[in-house]
Amino acid sequence: MSDHAFQRCIYPACGTTVAISDTRFRCPACGGLLDIAYEWDRLPVPKSLKHLETKWADRTHPLNFSGVWRFRELLPFAPDDRVMTIGEGQTLCQQSDPVARYVGVKPGRLYLQYEGMNPSGSFKDNGMTAAFTHAGLVGARRAACASTGNTSASLAIYCAATNLMRGVIFVGSGKISYGKLSQALEHAALTLQIAGDFDDALRRVQEVAKQLGIYLVNSVNPFRLEGQKTIMYRVLEALRWEVPEWVVVPGGNLGNCSAFGKAFTELFDLGLIDRVPRLAVVNAAGANTFYQVAERHGVRWHGGNADRPKVAAYLKMLDDTDARADTLASAIEINRPVNLPKALRALERCGGVVREVTDQEILDAKAQVGAGGLGCEPASAASVAGVLKLVKEGVIDPDERVVCILTGHLLKDPTATVAYHTSDPKMYADVLGNRGVKRVAFANRAVQVPNDLAEIVKALELYA
Ligand code: F0G
Repeated sequence: MSDHAFQRCIYPACGTTVAISDTRFRCPACGGLLDIAYEWDRLPVPKSLKHLETKWADRTHPLNFSGVWRFRELLPFAPDDRVMTIGEGQTLCQQSDPVARYVGVKPGRLYLQYEGMNPSGSFKDNGMTAAFTHAGLVGARRAACASTGNTSASLAIYCAATNLMRGVIFVGSGKISYGKLSQALEHAALTLQIAGDFDDALRRVQEVAKQLGIYLVNSVNPFRLEGQKTIMYRVLEALRWEVPEWVVVPGGNLGNCSAFGKAFTELFDLGLIDRVPRLAVVNAAGANTFYQVAERHGVRWHGGNADRPKVAAYLKMLDDTDARADTLASAIEINRPVNLPKALRALERCGGVVREVTDQEILDAKAQVGAGGLGCEPASAASVAGVLKLVKEGVIDPDERVVCILTGHLLKDPTATVAYHTSDPKMYADVLGNRGVKRVAFANRAVQVPNDLAEIVKALELYA
């Protein structure tokens, strides 16, 4: 393990430090979240970001092939020979003029960071490789997570591919899409379907991990977020190391936005960038705790003196009224985001905003992403729907350079997609209509034709 890395409570007034080998992932003094911190002045920090490109010359080296570990000088908590990689992070940051047109920014200004290209089909692999590396260092034999489906798919694939640990997955029964459930099952993870939702499952998995000493890979684990920082390094790399004006990301358990805030804070403090981008976090309207807390109740990080009682009161109100998250974007159907304090810190550091978007807005944006050539799952499209809203509000200027994070692959949730495009009214009603989606502005309906050559030709002449 690195002698120059440690864990530290995120609250500066507490600042308790914990050994890198500790797996409790909570501050022993105040119960706060932990960061991974580094003694940068005793580590070989790159002189410029461009220097990192040298790794591309040696892509047969597994650590240089990985889109996470080729940036390892910026997450130096493990020696090279202990890194657990399965080739994650080979992702793409693609300029998309069709989507730019849809959201109202100028051509050439909108980019989609497509994390669906990861081995398990979502951004989670960026964090899982880092968590597995840490788990390997501490000799863990079992790993667990609660999940809306992507963390569990990622955990399952890393367990199967590395044979390091046995994976135990807690999911809310009926709460994850088939694409994701199929991954957990196919990759042979022990899958517990809990009669409850993600928030219930996350509570339980933390209790169980503590009681049985199982290594926890949810994003409360700060090593996960170290890996997820690299999504931002790849964005900067794709933009020739220029910092965009905006990074827009869906918010669920708020791990990604927290990791992005940390990535930019560190790059700035190390003198590797001269400004940070603004961050927009987009909740689904049916799972909008962060939006409520940050925008409606005005809670701020205040340099670490965040208004913790206000947050606690809001969460207690959710408990007292048994308020349940409810959105078609099942990946972000979360009401009690564990990383909320870190996300508040990221907002403060990056001049951030939070918005909520309806399932209708999400599904329309998703269809536009698909028509533009990159397929994503509903939660991912919240980022695009969020940009549309922020441009309309005048918060994002059409001239500004905007990067939306597409967090998961289209094939994760085929049910939502087929229901959007279907001509079967019952299917539409069952999946979308019953949940408040009133219209399908961009539906691409399949054309029904008899099994007859002349009829098929006629159909083609009519539609093609
Ligand atoms: N997008 C997708 C596709 C996700 O799977 C998730 C989270 C998010 C966005 C939200 O990211 O939690 O960092 O704010 N999925 C978790 C899971 C909760 O269990 O797979 P976040």
